[in-house]
Amino acid sequence: MEQVLQQIDQYKKEIDQWVIGSAEDLENYRIRFLGTKGIVKALFGEMKNIPAGEKRSFGQVLNDFKQLAEAKYEDNKGLTDGKDKDTPGMDLTLPGDAFTLGTRHPLSLVRNRIVSIYQRLGFAVAEGPEIEDDWHNFTALNMPENHPARDMQDTFYIQRNPDWVLRTHTSSVQARVLETSPLPVRIICPGRVYRNETVSARANCFFHQVEGLYVDKHVSFADLKQTLYFFVKEMFGEHTRVRFRPSYFPFTEPSAEMDISCTVCGGTGCSLCKHTGWVEILGCGMVHPQLLENLGIDSTQYTGFAFGMGVERIAQLNYRVNDLRLYAQNDLRFLQQFTSST
Ligand code: PHE
Repeated sequence: MEQVLQQIDQYKKEIDQWVIGSAEDLENYRIRFLGTKGIVKALFGEMKNIPAGEKRSFGQVLNDFKQLAEAKYEDNKGLTDGKDKDTPGMDLTLPGDAFTLGTRHPLSLVRNRIVSIYQRLGFAVAEGPEIEDDWHNFTALNMPENHPARDMQDTFYIQRNPDWVLRTHTSSVQARVLETSPLPVRIICPGRVYRNETVSARANCFFHQVEGLYVDKHVSFADLKQTLYFFVKEMFGEHTRVRFRPSYFPFTEPSAEMDISCTVCGGTGCSLCKHTGWVEILGCGMVHPQLLENLGIDSTQYTGFAFGMGVERIAQLNYRVNDLRLYAQNDLRFLQQFTSST
């Protein structure tokens, strides 16, 4: 009898440790302890070997054990058969614990909108490294060493290797794609870029761009204008006016900057547009033939257009945030104001 009692203690421990996480676990448990060939049944079968004087107390032990085994089964049945309400210790009507959902960064929201507008026109997204070599950031783009245009973009150089820079624009991605992809190429390049500027409300040492490039036979300035018109209407609304001003970029010829009528005052003049009624939103132009040649493309056969815009600038027009530094400070009070799921 001593032996059987020890055995029962072992079984109690086993029951205690048996983890029931699924219907299958529960069924295995039932078969082992409560089934027709299970342990409870077998222990009751031991009764006949117990001396008459001890039958009573042994019967008591057996009944307790049986109840223990059944109780665990009943407790867990609710978990798997849906009758949770009846399960002791569990109240499914209690409200759940609320948890805070993150929100997208305003610059991500704006970038996604910009990207999706150009995607609808057939532009594919291309990305490249933020640490770039001189060739892709400058030389291939028609800014050879000592070219004064390099000063237009104050550059961070990597100390270990002066041939490496933090890219100053995502035009470097355009150079990479032109170098390796078959024509025609129609891409937009979103990404972070770096410039050595003193940090202030109006300038930061990094910001974000979306640049676009289309190279094919017979691409014209009219194609460029139509593409940008479409973008402006989609981004800022049907009634937004557009104007182009001649400008200079080493990688485009002719080059222009594009202004839109001020989204805050509608063109009547306010502090955002410095009372001119217009705000500049991007630079653009026809890809310089020398750039095409640098990248192994026959410039007598192919032409292209390119444009580049700052995401912070577009975000400023959308959200009227007038201090650029806010975008990089990770202050939740600021970031939580731009909730959206896109
Ligand atoms: N790369 C230019 C800049 O960073 C923008 C640009 C792109 C201008 C393409 C013209 C054409 O300022």
